[in-house]
Amino acid sequence: MPSIARMPVTVNVTTKRSIVSCADPVALDASMSACAGSDPLKGELPGKKKKARTIRSELLVSSVSSKTTIKLHQLPSPSYLNECLLQRYGAKSKVVDFFAGSGWDGLVPQVDPLYHLPEKRQLRKRGQLMSMLRAISVMILSAPSQGTSKRLVDFCGGAGHVGLLVAYLFSEWEVVCVDRNPISIDLGIRRAQEASLSNFRTVLGDVLAYEENFDIGTSLHACGAASDYAIKMCEKRSAGLIVASCCVGKICAISKRARESDSPEQLLWKQPKSLELQTSLAEHARATTGKEDRDFMDHCFDKLTRFADSSESTHFTSLAKYLVELDRLKAVEDRGYTGVLCKMEPTSSTPKNDIVIAWPPHFNIDKNAFGEVRIVETQPT
Ligand SMILES: C[S@@+](CC[C@H](N)C(=O)[O-])C[C@H]1O[C@@H](n2cnc3c(N)ncnc32)[C@H](O)[C@@H]1O
Repeated sequence: MPSIARMPVTVNVTTKRSIVSCADPVALDASMSACAGSDPLKGELPGKKKKARTIRSELLVSSVSSKTTIKLHQLPSPSYLNECLLQRYGAKSKVVDFFAGSGWDGLVPQVDPLYHLPEKRQLRKRGQLMSMLRAISVMILSAPSQGTSKRLVDFCGGAGHVGLLVAYLFSEWEVVCVDRNPISIDLGIRRAQEASLSNFRTVLGDVLAYEENFDIGTSLHACGAASDYAIKMCEKRSAGLIVASCCVGKICAISKRARESDSPEQLLWKQPKSLELQTSLAEHARATTGKEDRDFMDHCFDKLTRFADSSESTHFTSLAKYLVELDRLKAVEDRGYTGVLCKMEPTSSTPKNDIVIAWPPHFNIDKNAFGEVRIVETQPT
C-alpha cells in the first residue's frame, strides 16, 4: 500500500479539512499507514454499541484534528549527532564510540538491557533506549553550563534502563533515577554498583515528591498521568524534557488519591492542558451541545485519551494518540518552551513510540537537528 506520506487520505466522517504533517512515512508506523485499509467502519462490526461508540470517538477525533496541525519531526540523525559529539567529547569518548563505533557491544553489560530483561524484550528495549538517547544527547549538548551541577533525572526510571546508559556515556552528568517501586530501584542500584558508576543514584518515591534541582528530565513509559507529572516537574525546574508516555488511556482514571482530593492539581490531569486543545474541544462542545459545557469538554478529553489507547490500531486511534501528545507539547509551549514530537526509530520498538521533546529558552537547541517536516493532507469526501 502506498505510504500515507505520499498520498492524500480520505477521512469519511469529517466534513472539514484537516492537515496532518509527518516527518517520515516510515515513522508513521503500520497503524497510521493503515488508514484506508483498516477503517473499522468498513470491517466486521463488533456489535452495535461498540460500533456507535467507535463512530462517536472517530467523529470527536475528526472534529478536533480538523482544527489542528500535527507535525512530526525526525529524531536527530546519527551523522548529525556524531559530528556534534565528536566536537564536544573527542574520538576516544565512550559516547562517540557508542554511536559511531562499537555500539552496544562496547558497553559494560550492566547498562545494556540485555543484562536482565527476558529475551523477547531485549531488542525492543534497546531500540527504545537508542531513540531516547538520541534526543537526550542533543539536549545534553545544548544544556546551558551551570558550573558543575549537571543533573539529569530519569522519572519513573524503574531499574534504570535510561539512567544507567546516560550515566555511563556522559560521566560529567549526575543521573538520578526516581521510582516508587523498591524492587526496581534495588535492581538499578545493583546494576550501577556492578558497573562501578559513581554518578548514578536513585530516589525511592513519587515523581511529584522529587525536590532537587535538575537540568534535564526524562521518562520512558511512565504510566498514565505519571508522564504529565514528569513534565510538570521539568517545567517547575525549567529543565529540558524528553518524555515517551505509556497507557494514555489511564490519564483520566480517577485514582484513589485524586478522588480523595479536591486540589486543582489533581483535576489538571483529567483536563486538556493546552490552549489549543481546550479551544478545539470548546468548539466541539458548542457544535454538539450548543454551549461550552466544561463537563462535556472533560468527558471528550477522557474519551480521546481512552480511544488513543485502544488496542485496535486504526488511523483514528493513531490520530487520537497524536492529539494527546500534541496537547502535552502545546501546553509546555504555551508556557515558553519550544519543542517537537518525534517517533522512535524503529517504530516497531514499541507501540508507545511517541516522544515529546521540549526545552526552555535558555537551551541552545538548533530545531533543525530534528529533521524536516513533510506535509500530508487528510481530505474530506
Ligand atoms: C512501565 S515502567 C517503565 C520503567 C522504565 N522507565 C523502563 O522503561 O523500563 C513504569 C514505572 O513507573 C513507575 N511509576 C509509575 N507512577 C509513578 C509515580 N507517580 N512516581 C514514581 N514512579 C512511578 C513504576 O513504579 C514503574 O517502575
